[in-house]
Amino acid sequence: MHTHEAISAWLAELRASLQTRLNCLDALWPDGPQRLLSAMNYSLLGGGKRLRPLLVLLAARLSGDNDADAWPAALAIEMVHTYSLIHDDLPAMDNDDFRRGRATCHKQYDEATAVLAGDALLTGAFEVLTQLPSPVACECIRILSRSAGADGMVGGQEDDVRYAACGQQYLTDSGREPSDFLNRMHHRKTGALIRAALLMGATVGGASDSLKESLICYGNSFGLAFQITDDILDVLGTEQAMGKRVAKDAGAGKLTFVTCWGLEESRRRAKLEVEHALAALAHCDQKNPACLALQSLVSELPERTH
Ligand code: IPE
Ligand code: IPE
Ligand code: MG
Ligand code: MG
Ligand code: MG
Repeated sequence: MHTHEAISAWLAELRASLQTRLNCLDALWPDGPQRLLSAMNYSLLGGGKRLRPLLVLLAARLSGDNDADAWPAALAIEMVHTYSLIHDDLPAMDNDDFRRGRATCHKQYDEATAVLAGDALLTGAFEVLTQLPSPVACECIRILSRSAGADGMVGGQEDDVRYAACGQQYLTDSGREPSDFLNRMHHRKTGALIRAALLMGATVGGASDSLKESLICYGNSFGLAFQITDDILDVLGTEQAMGKRVAKDAGAGKLTFVTCWGLEESRRRAKLEVEHALAALAHCDQKNPACLALQSLVSELPERTH
């Protein structure tokens, strides 16, 4: 019998192990410039909810990996995610000075170092993936490179910044309805890495095709519920709880779920996506603690304050 408390305690243990294992950069690149490694560690180890690596580990466990062979994939996705945040915060993008409860990388170091720290986390993630056994490593490299690239997270980020720069014209040129454009943008900007996390975990654990399908459905809804809540928290959240600046999106001309649909409708849609995500897990083993943890993580999204 796994109580809610037992699942929370297990997730806390996994987060603590992740923190220890993420502290591996100096050993991986002992001859790397000290200031560069310091900037990489500053952003990587300085907090964060660790949702994506948890999704890797839980998907792997649900797929039958009981020996936690998925650690390299978990570390790699958090490295790519952290790189995306370092670059997202740069003056050329969202121009933010506060992240994970402290100064952003380019404020703490300098812009050139932040660009390079992001570059090195991105490339380093793929080196870390090569620690997996070879057929699985190759498949994970394929999944992560596709999800992080032009048709994935980076493509979504391009839509985000282009819309903010060009406004309605960019949307008109895309030939899409606003809500379709918004969903597609977030499907890639946020959803791609979340799906990649689940799919890499499933790959390491040797999941069946049908379990992979279920996890992708779960990931699609998880990603939407997560980003809708991020957009809501930009309006209603506090800087202290979020560890990043709030009340920025509308003024920066961003297209968000809140600017598109308003707060009430955004809340309703976040809850609907949570229900879809839970339904996607309906055929999984409901006694498996990983299934319960995946249910718990997604159910908590609309209530989160950080
Ligand atoms: C922030 O992601 C960027 C978005 C995709 C909205 P998280 O909210 O997961 O950031 P950390 O990892 O907890 O700092
Ligand atoms: C960033 O989205 C998503 C990434 C791919 C990094 P946001 O710009 O909304 O993330 P925050 O609000 O700065 O964390
Ligand atoms: Mg952004
Ligand atoms: Mg941002
Ligand atoms: Mg945001």
